[in-house]
Amino acid sequence: MSTQERVLSGFRPSGPLHIGHLVGALQNWVSLQDQYRCFYAICDWHALTSEYAHTEPLRHYVLQMALDWMAVGLDPERSTLFVQSSVKEHAELHLLLSMIVPLGWLERVPTYKEQQLQVKGRDLTNYGFLGYPVLQTADILAYKARWVPVGEDQISHLELSREIARRFNSIYGEVFPEPQPKITRVPRLPGTDGRKMSKSYNNAVYLSDPEGEVRKKILTMVTDPARIRRSDPGNPDVCPVYTLHKAFSSQSTLDTVNLECRRAGIGCIDCKNFLLDHLDPVLAPLRERREAFARSPDRVKQILEAGADRAREVASATLAEVRNAIRI
Ligand code: TRP
Ligand code: SF4
Repeated sequence: MSTQERVLSGFRPSGPLHIGHLVGALQNWVSLQDQYRCFYAICDWHALTSEYAHTEPLRHYVLQMALDWMAVGLDPERSTLFVQSSVKEHAELHLLLSMIVPLGWLERVPTYKEQQLQVKGRDLTNYGFLGYPVLQTADILAYKARWVPVGEDQISHLELSREIARRFNSIYGEVFPEPQPKITRVPRLPGTDGRKMSKSYNNAVYLSDPEGEVRKKILTMVTDPARIRRSDPGNPDVCPVYTLHKAFSSQSTLDTVNLECRRAGIGCIDCKNFLLDHLDPVLAPLRERREAFARSPDRVKQILEAGADRAREVASATLAEVRNAIRI
């Protein structure tokens, strides 16, 4: 239905997705599929902005990401799933937008300086990295997307995208709607060591982990550090296992854990098994779908190519308008 409002979002293919991505973004993406015309991009050019010298795993990551996406229920029949670098219009729009974006806007993006300081072992003084939010804006505006489902960490990028759209419209005439974020306000999930779940901390529960692996990770997860013996009462409010319960368990399980942990009525292993009782049914169907797609990688590639064809149709129409507005 061409009258439907469009949604665009994307991920950088930087490794396998974990349960934090599931509750922090993907479940939301899945739920938008019925209401909107959704475009979901695997942003390999964005990966290059920092990983330009480490491209060896990139193609593998792209394919794994497509599997993870379809495993969680992103449906290539209803949503357009594609690889960013297959749709060259993103690059052309990025170039054209780069002409009207003041350097100061980019240098002021909070993530820019932060990442340069935080990311170790990567030289991020390159031109492409500074332009990261311009490329992201091109991703969005190429589809005139109204809605952009992202986590809170992306708010500053989205603000910049709106400013760029406004500046384009004021210079060349009204072409772009201003994209609005659809924020998923889920607190970051903790990993098995209690720090935020992240590939770089080696503490993540991956969507692609076999059941036994998930079990092992949860059963060895850190808990309330003050609860040393089974007879010690615990405090769920400081326990990372409880944070996972809040993301996956039923209210009655939450109530039980809250009560019984505090009076040492249950042990941590009991508690973790309750969590697995809720987590397994979420991950099992996902694992099955993933395996089915993983058996036919050629089909996955076809799906991505068909997605790119559909994306290109929309993006090339936008670019025709853009060139016209610029008189190029
Ligand atoms: N910057 C986003 C992230 O790191 C990924 C991304 C690239 C994106 N292009 C986008 C998100 C366009 C939303 C819209 O998660
Ligand atoms: Fe954490 Fe559960 Fe152990 Fe309490 S019983 S400390 S909530 S793992």
